Amino acid sequence: MLRSRKRTAVAALVALALLVTGAQASGIIEPAGQDYQDARAPVDRRVESLLKRMTLEEKVGQMTQIRLGKLRGNCEWNPGPLREDCMKAVLEDAKVGSILSGGGDAPNPNTPRAWAEMTNAIQKYSLDHSRLRIPLIYGADGVHGHSNVLSATMFPHQIGLGATWNPELQEQLGKSTGRAMRATGVFWNFAPVSDIARDTRWGRYYETYSEDPVLAGALAAANVRGQQADPTDGTAKLTATAKHFAGYSEPFNGHDRAPAQLPIRYLQDTVLPAFQPQFDAGVGTVMINSGAVNGVPAHASKYLLTTQLRDRMGFRGVAITDWEDIRFLVDRYHVAANYEEAIAMAVNAGVDMAMEPSDAAGFTAGLLAGVRSGAIPGKRIDQAVRRILKLKFELGLFEKPFVDVEKADAIVNGADRALARQAAAESTVLLRNDGVLPLSTGVGKLVVTGDTADSAARQLGGWSVGWQGVPNGSPMPPTVTVLQGIKAAAPSANVVSAATQADAVAQAGDADAVVVVLGEDPGAEGEADTEEPALTAAQQGLVDAVRATGKPVVVVLLTGRPQVLGTVADASALVAGWLPGSEGGSAIADVLFGAVNPSGRLPVSWPKAVGDQPFSYDQLRGANTVAGSGYDPAFAFGHGLSYTTFTTSAPKLGSAEVRRDGQVKVSVTVANTGGRDGTLVVPVYVHQPVSKVLTPPQRLVGFTRVALKAGEQRAVEVTFDVRRLAVTAGDVDASGKPEVARGDYEVVVGDGRARFTVR
Ligand code: NOJ
Repeated sequence: MLRSRKRTAVAALVALALLVTGAQASGIIEPAGQDYQDARAPVDRRVESLLKRMTLEEKVGQMTQIRLGKLRGNCEWNPGPLREDCMKAVLEDAKVGSILSGGGDAPNPNTPRAWAEMTNAIQKYSLDHSRLRIPLIYGADGVHGHSNVLSATMFPHQIGLGATWNPELQEQLGKSTGRAMRATGVFWNFAPVSDIARDTRWGRYYETYSEDPVLAGALAAANVRGQQADPTDGTAKLTATAKHFAGYSEPFNGHDRAPAQLPIRYLQDTVLPAFQPQFDAGVGTVMINSGAVNGVPAHASKYLLTTQLRDRMGFRGVAITDWEDIRFLVDRYHVAANYEEAIAMAVNAGVDMAMEPSDAAGFTAGLLAGVRSGAIPGKRIDQAVRRILKLKFELGLFEKPFVDVEKADAIVNGADRALARQAAAESTVLLRNDGVLPLSTGVGKLVVTGDTADSAARQLGGWSVGWQGVPNGSPMPPTVTVLQGIKAAAPSANVVSAATQADAVAQAGDADAVVVVLGEDPGAEGEADTEEPALTAAQQGLVDAVRATGKPVVVVLLTGRPQVLGTVADASALVAGWLPGSEGGSAIADVLFGAVNPSGRLPVSWPKAVGDQPFSYDQLRGANTVAGSGYDPAFAFGHGLSYTTFTTSAPKLGSAEVRRDGQVKVSVTVANTGGRDGTLVVPVYVHQPVSKVLTPPQRLVGFTRVALKAGEQRAVEVTFDVRRLAVTAGDVDASGKPEVARGDYEVVVGDGRARFTVR
């Protein structure tokens, strides 16, 4: 009875929608056996078959993503259990096609099993109340592992992973994260970040891989390949996200989401290329930059979202907004007078789905109104919905909307700890070493001190269980701190933990060495911005005080950015461990005691002074200062020491003449000339002696990573695409196209150079 009344009501609605939209759906369709449900049919045919059955209301619902909170508790922020009436408003009434957990939006208890039960329940409600049984897609930020989940293994944040220069490792990490997320019913990961690190004041610096687009792009693409790999555990596939498109990472004053001023030449030649490898790798979705670029919010920019993203860069997937960003076109940027106008602006610019995230009815009503008034063409809606349906079909969500709750805990809990340890160890950069490292495991007394020596929360950083990091009062995810790692690595040593400066100095008196571990408070987005990206006076004071005892002092920096070091710069040994995740303490100890020979190389430039920002090695030539570009770092991009020594021969080129779209093969011989096995990162740069438009003194074009036994010598090759050297032609107005100038160039590897000519 109830069911038939509901059917009648739905039929009436559908009939009404048909009148308004001209959609071809007619009445209730019994879903089983429809051709769009035939998994063997080509995806495009399934998409068209489903699309033509959909009403406009169903279409705009698919274009909407709403946060978990709206389905549970008090249908707002209260994290209570899922509630039927809350779910009805979002999933049945507004027909919403996607739900997200923003940072910290987890079920209670926050276990993998509870996640799987929750996403299954939401999926079931959605399917049971979707006329055409269109599955929803659940998204979350797995930015360093499935990092919202308390028991998940958390990998180093991206800035540390950038220091590995290891794409294969990123692929494995992507696979691991994807496996964990899929096991809990999350098939959309809002990662990796493809923004480039250019300003240490920015609170999201640690979320990026590198200041260089080639390094960042290669690592991000490998991560995408891993995340999106075909599952072997029977679930649907997962889609990764390239974010935040584009120009987000350089707010003009370092503050998150402050408008960026990016010359088109810079945007085109430096910022956008970091995204291209992910588009080429088939990343399923893109998230749009919350900020404004050159006076236009990215969410309203047809130039960014259509001309660049689609027409020039060839992205074919779904473009989603960032959190609430269509509303911000009204409330923050004031480029639209009201929500309806903002919706039309964003959708016409190229937005396919809105991370609304709270007002399902408001967004869908605004979108419907826009279509009905003619402000948004119906074909734009169809284009967006096609992309969304295609994604859902390609992931296999129609066939596999649910996950096995019985498996979730076993797959996620404590998974891949060895991989996390390897990633953290490879992330670790030995910045300075006067010979104190590696420490002997037979060391007598070791003092361990500093604000981050025994702090899991600081070591994990933001986006760990909670948005701003592990929330106060939350249980701590299983983490090995540096203090614990050192104790485990040197069980016979007298490891003394000193909580205060006075204690550290007193204990140092009869110690063999002091390890000072310094970090920063966890945080995310604007909350993590700083106008002083430097070690604090107290941190420098602690290091000064223990150094004054005359004992060797090893400083370990667990920070999300290269903090200006001040007096710490010339400590006996300096180790950058970034935000190393769950196994960070074991990995740092591996490096300190030499179980691992450090191989990390800086993916960013380490500034000498706060005033250096924004900062990168590829600053344009012309400054009347050091190296003609004002680049005078404490430690340069690519720097990193080892416990062994290496040599690199001068580069040899496959050909001294190349076409403008050609490839250049570079060969070098590398050798480990020291007494320990080690791994060498070989960056390959290009220098352009003369250019019509300013170019940096050198640009990274490729790299490789070579493991060499003590005494081993090996020939290696790096091939790069000459198009990496493209520069937007034209005058100050950058009116030309990006093109590779004909003429002479030099490949630079280590101290060696080789000339080639582009014809
Ligand atoms: C806002 C952040 O900018 C974005 O990176 C994240 O994916 C979304 N919130 C969802 O949590």
